Amino acid sequence: MKMNRVEKWMVNRSSSTRNGMKLTAKLLSYTNLGESRQFLDIGCGQGRITRFLATEYDACVTGIDIDEDEIKKAIAENTSDRVTFSIQDAKKLPFEDRTQDIVLCFGVLHHLPDWRRVVGEIGRITKVGGYFVSAELVYPVWLTQIDERSSFKFGLYNLDVYALARMLQDEGFVTVYKSEKKRKLWREHEAVYQKKYDKAWSRV
Ligand SMILES: C[S@@+](CC[C@H](N)C(=O)[O-])C[C@H]1O[C@@H](n2cnc3c(N)ncnc32)[C@H](O)[C@@H]1O
Repeated sequence: MKMNRVEKWMVNRSSSTRNGMKLTAKLLSYTNLGESRQFLDIGCGQGRITRFLATEYDACVTGIDIDEDEIKKAIAENTSDRVTFSIQDAKKLPFEDRTQDIVLCFGVLHHLPDWRRVVGEIGRITKVGGYFVSAELVYPVWLTQIDERSSFKFGLYNLDVYALARMLQDEGFVTVYKSEKKRKLWREHEAVYQKKYDKAWSRV
C-alpha cells in the first residue's frame, strides 16, 4: 500500500536517508559479495538507498515501488546507468527465477497483510548463495487496531517475524544475522538471510 503524507515526509527526511544508508552498510557487512552484483531494492521509495547500493557496492540495482509518484522522483534524481526504477507490486515481481544476488526490503512487509506473497517472490528470484536483507518495524496488535480504525491510516500490520523466518527457511534460506531492538511503541527487527538451498532441496 502507498504511504500516507506523514509517512512520506518521515521516510524522505535526510536524517532517515542517512540512517537507512548506515543500516544498509551494517547489514551488507554480514554478506559475502561475489563478482556478480545484481541487486533489487523492494519498496525503494525515492530510491536514495537504491543509488547508494549502486555506488558503494559497484552493483547493478533495480528499485521497485508501487507508488508511481515516488518512482517518478527516483527516476528524476537518477544519473547512473547501473540503476533502474520501475513501478511494480512486490507481490508479483517481473524477474526470472534465481536472478538476484541481493534482495533488500526495508519497511515494506509490515505494511502488507499478505506479506507471504512477497516472501514467496523473494525466494523465487534470489540466487542460491544470494541474500535477503530485511529491516522492519514490528507493531503491537493494539496499535495496528487503532491504525485500522483511524481515518488517517498508516496501514500498519503486526508482522510475525517468527513466521517470516520459518517461511524463509522453507524457501531455502538460513539466518546469517538477526537483531531486535525494543522501542517505546514498536520493535526494530533487522535480519540477513542467505539462500543456501533451492526451495525443493530444503524440503527433502
Ligand atoms: C516505509 S517506506 C520505505 C521506503 C524505503 N525502503 C526506505 O527504507 O526508505 C515503504 C515503501 O514500500 C512501498 N510499498 C508498499 N507496498 C508495496 C508493494 N506492494 N509493492 C511495492 N512497494 C510497496 C511504499 O510505496 C513505500 O515507498
